[in-house]
Amino acid sequence: MNDRPMRIMLTGSGGQVGWELNRVLLPYGIVGGYGASGLDLLDGPATREAVRRFRPDVIINAAAYTAVDKAETERIVCRGLNAVAPGILAEEAERLGAWLIHYSTDYVYGGKNDRPWLEDDEPNPVNYYGESKLEGDIAVSERASKHLVFRTSWVYSSRRSNFLLTMLRLFASSEGGRKKAVRVVDDQIGAPTWARFIAQATAIAVKSAIETADAGISGVYHLASGGFVSWCGFAREILEYSRARMGLGDVELIPISSKDYASGAARPAWSVLSTEKTRGTFGVHAIHWQEAARLCIDEIMERR
Ligand SMILES: NC(=O)c1ccc[n+]([C@@H]2O[C@H](COP(=O)([O-])OP(=O)(O)OC[C@H]3O[C@@H](n4cnc5c(N)ncnc54)[C@H](OP(=O)(O)O)[C@@H]3O)[C@@H](O)[C@H]2O)c1
Repeated sequence: MNDRPMRIMLTGSGGQVGWELNRVLLPYGIVGGYGASGLDLLDGPATREAVRRFRPDVIINAAAYTAVDKAETERIVCRGLNAVAPGILAEEAERLGAWLIHYSTDYVYGGKNDRPWLEDDEPNPVNYYGESKLEGDIAVSERASKHLVFRTSWVYSSRRSNFLLTMLRLFASSEGGRKKAVRVVDDQIGAPTWARFIAQATAIAVKSAIETADAGISGVYHLASGGFVSWCGFAREILEYSRARMGLGDVELIPISSKDYASGAARPAWSVLSTEKTRGTFGVHAIHWQEAARLCIDEIMERR
């Protein structure tokens, strides 16, 4: 490695994962963080110009259209951000000989399985968000010879909006002394994953990619917590762990099936990702979802 600091261009720096990356990456080099207001990735020429101006060694694309239900009706914007923009970043990375780190989703897989999904399992998205992310994965893989695509799942953090924060808010809102009933889907299984963990693991992988300078490690990797649970099981853990700490009232969790929950987009029943390839390549240990969730809840409590 030479003495020049690594130049890292980070898009989506205000998002759940991007915000964590912007902090975790501090010791790794010069980080140029771009939010949507600083660089609109739907503007192709502006995107190309920003990359050329910054001259990154690594581009980390943490920007995405993540509103799964709205994606069904906002297809143009969704595809622009999740499929077209990653392709443009890939072309620019290739032009500079830079690495492109990109994020994708468990929702590229669909249907059922009796084991965690492997990276080379056939994708079969059941919603438009998944379709658009898959198109992005393919664009990155085909156009950037040095790329890492991290497929993750059920992301939460102590900021922005996510399932964990929604549950905490619901559990805390009083219902005039009556027992509060919260209905949560119990037939979708996955691994809730803390954005902090994704950022830390990404930093390990980036360092490894730069140091080995081996484009042969390019590919798709799963990056998610260990273990698995249903949304309702995740809600139960959030409730039990935070109940005493937050002085929550009386809450009853009611497991329901997906067909009883009105949502704009279908979701896969089985979203569990095998992280063996990531562990074998980068030595990243997948923290158990429950342990990570408790750490994140602790952090949220500290701030209150
Ligand atoms: N959230 C999940 O449950 C989940 C699950 C699996 C995979 N993933 C994947 O993980 C990655 C990170 O997700 P996340 O949850 O951190 O996303 P997020 O919190 O929704 O953040 C998305 C980021 O994209 C930026 N963005 C939106 N429109 C943009 C535009 N036109 N130009 C430039 N930037 C724009 C947003 O900017 P502003 O800050 O200005 O709004 C925001 O910083 C994504 O690739 C996502 O598909 C997420």
